[in-house]
Amino acid sequence: MRKKVTVVGAGNVGASCALRLAEKGLADVVVVDILEGIPQGKSLDILQAGPIGGVDVKVAGANDYAATAASDIVVFTAGFPRKPGMSRDDLLWMNYEIVKATTEQVVKHSPDAILIVVANPLDAMCHVAHAVSGFPKQRVMGMAGILDTSRFRTFIAQELEVSVRDVTTMVLGGHGDTMVPLVRHTSIAGIPITELLDGDTIQRLVKRTRDGGAEIVKYLKTGSAYYAPAAAAVEMVEAIVHDSKRVLPCSAYLEGEYGIDGLFVGVPVKLGAAGIEKVFEVQLSAEELGALRKSAAAVKELVDVMRPKLTEAKAAVEA
Ligand code: LAC
Repeated sequence: MRKKVTVVGAGNVGASCALRLAEKGLADVVVVDILEGIPQGKSLDILQAGPIGGVDVKVAGANDYAATAASDIVVFTAGFPRKPGMSRDDLLWMNYEIVKATTEQVVKHSPDAILIVVANPLDAMCHVAHAVSGFPKQRVMGMAGILDTSRFRTFIAQELEVSVRDVTTMVLGGHGDTMVPLVRHTSIAGIPITELLDGDTIQRLVKRTRDGGAEIVKYLKTGSAYYAPAAAAVEMVEAIVHDSKRVLPCSAYLEGEYGIDGLFVGVPVKLGAAGIEKVFEVQLSAEELGALRKSAAAVKELVDVMRPKLTEAKAAVEA
């Protein structure tokens, strides 16, 4: 039977996700949003592209979560995007309420779903979905590392004028200014990047990657990126639907890995039908580990601010 994927939020990221999911024929898609008519209209539009693409999946829009019942995977895109000058962290309380309310609705109708969070500040919002759902850590994860890695790969490929397919790298840490692009684990068809580019150039590309989201916000002015974020989220859905055991950087709940405990942080994981099937602990240098822990500390700051509310949410689940 075909899988069912719900996309929460019919905005730019949500609609781009739905379109991509449908074009790939990956699953039946339900787009849910509080705005009346928007999820219905966009879904119908996407559905009508089906014959041209030769895909038969169902795409439906709804305002009521009953339509999302028995979803296998739910992608949370609803939330405010940042505006120029804002950091992702500035969105904390606005998006806390949205992620909390939508998670409550989702789990009522899809108790066995795998949750993929896309709303910002990403790693903090994973904590909200995790606490409110009460789901095991394998079934709650965040999309960020794939996006950040894809940006880094894009810039490296551009610089070297080579195919993006041959650029392999990893960006770990929180999805914020402290993210950790791992230069030492970056290669072009196996050739270490340090043999092809000088240190200053590499650092320029690292910085552009860290500022990758803000660069787009500056252009768009009224919002943030959506095509690449949607592509990254759909890559996660694809790995789960096909049980392909992809090794991808995702925000995962760590319990001691990398010396980090009780926090969602971006690390390489194995993604398959069960969700996060393994967290890979890469051997890091002291400097890299320091950068990763610093990034985790930035996530912890936000989580600490939310702590009383998260504890309350967890208690409500357990009651
Ligand atoms: C970005 C936002 C979506 O990185 O977090 O573009």
